[in-house]
Amino acid sequence: MTDPHPRTHRVRRRLALATAAVAAAGIAAVSALVFTSPAQAATTLGASAAQTGRYFGAAVATQHLGEAAYANTLGTEFNSVVAENAMKWDATEPNPGQFTFSGGDQIVSWAQARGMKVRGHTLVWHAQQPGWVQGLTGNNLRNAMVNHITGVANHYEGKVFAWDVVNEAFEWDGSRRQSNLQIQLGNGWIEEAFRAADAADPTARLCYNDYGTDGINSKSTAIYNMVRDFKSRGVPIDCVGFQSHLSAGDNLSSYQANLQRFADLGVDVEITELDVGGSGSGQAATFDTVTRSCLAVARCTGITVWGVTDKYSWRNDTPLLFDGNYQKKQAYTSVLNALNEGGSTC
Ligand code: G3I
Repeated sequence: MTDPHPRTHRVRRRLALATAAVAAAGIAAVSALVFTSPAQAATTLGASAAQTGRYFGAAVATQHLGEAAYANTLGTEFNSVVAENAMKWDATEPNPGQFTFSGGDQIVSWAQARGMKVRGHTLVWHAQQPGWVQGLTGNNLRNAMVNHITGVANHYEGKVFAWDVVNEAFEWDGSRRQSNLQIQLGNGWIEEAFRAADAADPTARLCYNDYGTDGINSKSTAIYNMVRDFKSRGVPIDCVGFQSHLSAGDNLSSYQANLQRFADLGVDVEITELDVGGSGSGQAATFDTVTRSCLAVARCTGITVWGVTDKYSWRNDTPLLFDGNYQKKQAYTSVLNALNEGGSTC
């Protein structure tokens, strides 16, 4: 596919991104030398993550921002947000060419007022497509996808630091999910989506995001091979999101190694939708493993939990860091301790 993008522009973007990566690595290296004594230990998740140049975020549902405890917990504990649903295709383009950004704008404004970063989720996904998309075929779907990416990424340019450009395109066995996108557009659709996002917002980090990639397995290896191919051909991809929807006690023996092998390809890695079904010490231990794995990989830029409180989780197995009364759980303490230890060398 011909590059729709003037080379000079992409060269400038690559240079800017390379500079940022070097700076981030430098910050991480310097931060790692910082002695974090108990007296210096941060008291919130976001502040602690920032000590190693990272973010710690939460997925946000606009309908809860008016609830004081929700807003206070979100604004106090986290330094990054992502819209749980408000920036998805069905929410942002309910009718062809008619964009509605009110929900996403509300989250962006709320976060910017508090100096918080904003992740974008998600430009193209087989789920939560508006009805008018689901029947499209061939170039009609291709044009609709590119137009959607362009409209949304244009709108949020400069406000979103990273986009989940494509979400959940692979099956457990490493084959492509046979979605309307795959069937109608063929194997090139993911590359086309990334190139459209790069043209629309050259400042944002462009990520591929998926679940079930919590170690070295058939699915994560298929994604690894795609990223390696993209990097070899200069397809604009900057990061991979590991959703990490887990259960207490899951086997995470290759979790860190998997993150590291992606980082070694030259992309950032992000934990994008972390939640751990369960409770008590078992849940806390799994959160601890994920947190320490991210801290051990220099290009792991941050962690997002998929919600603020168990009360509003999409799951019914108390998977988050705050309970239904916004009380800190054992898992919260485990994560904060890991974050506070993560930047220290002694
Ligand atoms: O907005 C409608 C509302 O108008 C209607 O009254 C209500 C009842 O039918 O439904 C509302 O839509 C719901 C939407 O969340 C917004 O609340 C959908 O039914 C519901 O299915 C949807 O669930 C979301 C789910 O993605 C959709 O697949 C969850 O909140 C959200 O946490 C979940 O998040 C996904 C990530 O985007 C991708 N990774 C997996 C993760 C968990 O499934």
